[in-house]
Amino acid sequence: MTYPVQGVRSIELDVSDPARAAAFFTQISNLTQVEARGGSFYFRGTGAYHHILALHQAAAGTGVRRVVFDVANRDTLAALHARIKPLSGVTEAPHDLESPGGGYGFGFTDREGRNYAAVCSVADHADTADGRDRPRKITHVNINSADAEKTKGFLIEALGFRLIDASGPLTFFHCGNTDHNSIVLAAGTKSTLNHVAFEMPDLDSVMRGAGRMRDAGYPIEWGVGRHSAGNNVFAYFAGPEELPLEYTAEVAQIDESYIPHGPEYWRFPPGRMDQWGVTAPHTPRWKRIQEMHFFTKDAYPI
Ligand SMILES: [Fe+2]
Repeated sequence: MTYPVQGVRSIELDVSDPARAAAFFTQISNLTQVEARGGSFYFRGTGAYHHILALHQAAAGTGVRRVVFDVANRDTLAALHARIKPLSGVTEAPHDLESPGGGYGFGFTDREGRNYAAVCSVADHADTADGRDRPRKITHVNINSADAEKTKGFLIEALGFRLIDASGPLTFFHCGNTDHNSIVLAAGTKSTLNHVAFEMPDLDSVMRGAGRMRDAGYPIEWGVGRHSAGNNVFAYFAGPEELPLEYTAEVAQIDESYIPHGPEYWRFPPGRMDQWGVTAPHTPRWKRIQEMHFFTKDAYPI
């Protein structure tokens, strides 16, 4: 199976105080700022992507401006555009990008009005060595959906994802890389951001990163534990402006021989919330913040 999307390249967030949030992501989350432009800030991990996070001045509240998908080349991008257009609310024509790192791509919306972009030919980095407790990339974005069947259909039919597992209210979507999942959909009552997961190079880095967060006044809201589907280690935090953030590592690496399973297979015994059986239930704060941040409705052009 070939996938038009290679992975989540970046997420762009609207925040009330971009400079303050930028200080958090560089000084506490160990990302590296690569550009500041027009009041927006752009950050890379240790992976190749030019930037994995953008912070913009919010016009109306903290939320997600868009999720940006990586595509291999212009031919694949053109085919993806043709596939998305009849299924999307709004789809731009592919064009050269003025945003940091440049490239070629287009913005589009899904059937619940979230903004995305698909891009290729971005000026990525050659230095990709891991750093101790420095995030590599965004492993996955977890999206709450008030109409999960509609959004599942969009992810599969328009974006070419493979539904790889289902666990409780979650469905996991795999694309053209070896990570078990790149998008997770949480069926619920609001179409909001559940969380964004930053991939650490190893378990020790998750723990060190969690300690640094705790020292800075950002305690663990859920974890540290190991998930069932995806097998990844997790620790969840309320970041600046209560953005729901995850540090993760050791996500399952899969290929086309992977056999998906359903909620019964992944269910934990009563009283357990992770494979190790060590984490307490998530805090009330985590429950609140994993539903509260909406996707911006008015910013589709990229
Ligand atoms: Fe996650």
